[in-house]
Amino acid sequence: MSRPRPVGRSISMPPSSDSGREAAAVETELAGREVVLGVAGGVAAYKAAMLASLLVKQSVGVTAVLTESAMQFVGEATFAALTGRPVATRLFDPGRYPLGGHIELVTAADLVVVAPATADVIAKAAMGGADDLLSTLLLAAECPVMLAPAMNAAMWAKPAVQRNVSRLVADGVGIIEPGSGWLACRREGAGRMAEPEAIAAEIARVFGGGTLPRTGAK
Ligand SMILES: Cc1cc2nc3c(=O)[nH]c(=O)nc-3n(C[C@H](O)[C@H](O)[C@H](O)COP(=O)(O)O)c2cc1C
Repeated sequence: MSRPRPVGRSISMPPSSDSGREAAAVETELAGREVVLGVAGGVAAYKAAMLASLLVKQSVGVTAVLTESAMQFVGEATFAALTGRPVATRLFDPGRYPLGGHIELVTAADLVVVAPATADVIAKAAMGGADDLLSTLLLAAECPVMLAPAMNAAMWAKPAVQRNVSRLVADGVGIIEPGSGWLACRREGAGRMAEPEAIAAEIARVFGGGTLPRTGAK
């Protein structure tokens, strides 16, 4: 986590606004890092494309891992173009990953971030389920893991979801809290995924030695 790296490239946003301050924090810590970006099946998957682009602009190596449901919302081609890398979508892909993508991808990663993290991914991660590439990779990861939940307010408020989130926090998984606002279900409420700039800022903060969001764990 604290290995020497090339100095980050700057992005041109004024530091006077909240987003400008986030951008300033992002620019110093990200360059040269390797991030696996997990994308699950929620409407907020389009924001993951913006996150991928933001990270790549800061010289982060990004490999996108899309669930089958994610591909209902966003295309593989978008992430391949934005990251400049093939997108991983399958657990069994011996031609590309003889050892399994769940092993090879996390071995090279400094951090795994899942954005959006669906109720399903959260549940699987909380119980150690591993029935596709993303869930298996989360189980195999030895680097820090952060999830950015996104879902309908009723789903986010469900005791089952909150239990799973608390379980993950106790297990040392970082949770980037969703905000409140206009949701794809056409209601105001909690469950809106954090904005890509805020997620990038959290990643930079953790790379800078900060604790994982909500866990207090290194
Ligand atoms: C239009 C639509 C939007 C959805 N949005 C979300 C969402 O924002 N969050 C969520 O947890 N599930 C959402 N779902 C349900 C997930 O896609 C579903 O639970 C799926 O099994 C998740 O698979 P994954 O976790 O493997 O990506 C949505 C489903 C549909 C049809």
